Amino acid sequence: INLEECDSTNNYIKTNYQKLKDRLPVLVTSALQTAGRGREKRTWVSPPGLGLYSSFGFNLENPHRLNLLPLIAGLSVIRTLETMTAVEFGLKWPNDVLCQNKKIAGILIENVIMEKTVSCITGIGINLNHTLNDFPGELQEKATSLKLAAGFTTPVREVNPVLAAVLFQWLEKLERGAHDEIIQTARQYSNFLKNKRISFHQPPHNKILSGIFKGINSDGGLILENDEGNSTIYYTGEII
Ligand code: BTN
Repeated sequence: INLEECDSTNNYIKTNYQKLKDRLPVLVTSALQTAGRGREKRTWVSPPGLGLYSSFGFNLENPHRLNLLPLIAGLSVIRTLETMTAVEFGLKWPNDVLCQNKKIAGILIENVIMEKTVSCITGIGINLNHTLNDFPGELQEKATSLKLAAGFTTPVREVNPVLAAVLFQWLEKLERGAHDEIIQTARQYSNFLKNKRISFHQPPHNKILSGIFKGINSDGGLILENDEGNSTIYYTGEII
């Protein structure tokens, strides 16, 4: 579904869920968003021509695999961008995509939980054609775009078919139970952070923890080692 404008492509799927639920999987993309949302109630500034704003809605037959969904969404963005440039990308658990240590893409996953199935809404924002001044001042240090990193302009609509194909390949692997491949690949792309000190934000308690990132466990959780050398696994939260 190609929209010229909407508040948020994630909202579009939620608002129209009753109409859309029988035609899943669906890909909704919009040239601009008037109220793009990020994780933890942040806004995702979404002007036309600069970024890709898309949401994929699909059913997941095995809801216990939900932990791996953020990882495969992030990996799908990485693999998509890799088809376009030789620049390297990293995965910051669970699903921020980094390039030259700055954020190039963000993912917001929301679930519609029904009796037997879980419908997942995976919203993806990729910075494609931004120049430095296109980012708000506070983001200029932290964000980048494909244009800034690789030097060329990308027509936004050309990216969606590749992203959809790659994402559905990974979803198939998820449904087939190819967990090892997913975890191994996520580890490979997040290796740049391994054994580094990180600040970790835990939303329910609003706590910020400091510790050493020891990698991703076999269920997709983040392993954080505290100063006493004890490790804890987290399934929600974000590295800041
Ligand atoms: C984050 O990093 O905080 C997540 C950003 C997610 C942005 C995308 S853009 C398409 C979809 N619609 C939204 O409102 N948000 C996601």
